[in-house]
Amino acid sequence: MTARSVRTAEVAGKRVLVRADLNVPLDGTRVADDTRIRASLPTLRLLLEAGVAQVLVCSHLGRPKSGPEAAFSLQPVAAKLGELLGIAVGFAGDGTGASTAVGPERVVVLENTRFHPGETKNDAGYAAELAALADVYVNDAFGSAHRAHSSTEAVAHLLPAYAGLLLERELVELGKLLGEVERPFVIVSGGSKVADKVAVLQHLGARADAVLIGGKMAEDVRGENPFSFPVVLPSDVVAAASFAEDAEARVATVDAIPEGWLGLDIGPASREEFARHIATAKTVFWNGPMGVFEWPRFAEGTNAVARAVADCDGLTVVGGGDSVRAIEEAGLADRVTWVSTGGGASLELLEGRVLPGVAAIPSA
Ligand code: 3PG
Repeated sequence: MTARSVRTAEVAGKRVLVRADLNVPLDGTRVADDTRIRASLPTLRLLLEAGVAQVLVCSHLGRPKSGPEAAFSLQPVAAKLGELLGIAVGFAGDGTGASTAVGPERVVVLENTRFHPGETKNDAGYAAELAALADVYVNDAFGSAHRAHSSTEAVAHLLPAYAGLLLERELVELGKLLGEVERPFVIVSGGSKVADKVAVLQHLGARADAVLIGGKMAEDVRGENPFSFPVVLPSDVVAAASFAEDAEARVATVDAIPEGWLGLDIGPASREEFARHIATAKTVFWNGPMGVFEWPRFAEGTNAVARAVADCDGLTVVGGGDSVRAIEEAGLADRVTWVSTGGGASLELLEGRVLPGVAAIPSA
């Protein structure tokens, strides 16, 4: 069952509410990374070309605790969207977090949905307020599709609802990992918390030919393997005397890490072994860095995986915030099949769960 596509929607002359995931990092009032804004453009362009009367774009940004807060205003995002679309984009807010009336521009960004107390409660009243602004609803917010919130779930029951192009593409590309995959199928996982990844690895790992685990997660798994299948753990690490960017560091095999030292990256032998597995793969899913890649001295393991994934000829999918950032910073994002815009959403989908934002859209 697939969610029905915006491509099939009759939108000419109509007002369309688009839920995008414009939850982007801000540096003050500057958008620090516009990847998610760019990812929303194809759906917006499609609607404009189809002759919509107006597109109202809504999104959350960050996790504001108690109502409107200037630091979480979508105003910088609206400005960036206008720049990228090359048209005047309105903003229904005053920059302090307060919402204002919707102006006449063809594309208008609404203020942060999480400034409304009803949003995260999936409140029907707030959903009705959003629905009253439009004739058609399009959900293109894959990154938020695992949230049952007013703007992602409840509103979809109040208007004719469709999946946007990004949401569709994410479901297709990530969905390939859930079906019959070409083998060898190699999973590379890392990051700090094994708890976040257990469900997805349990779901996918049993079908994989190799599950490579790095990062802090590898230590947890070495202590107590929670998986019902064998995993490949690093044989060596870059060990550091303390958790600091300039700490004394040296390569050590895992059984010879000096007392009290920390493994902050996988070592050269492990990099080679992981790269060898990835090189022979026909399908790769990568989620999570191999070490503290924000610090260049401990980034080599993550960069080696990024290069190996980019060099692999098979289907390569990268999901989750940190590995996405790593592959983008390495300049290799355009050499993988799909870089997901969803962190939690991609993991929940690959755990085999139904995402509420997708389930609320009628099937094609
Ligand atoms: C994300 O960045 O993963 C999404 O935008 C969802 O954000 P949330 O975890 O605050 O709901």
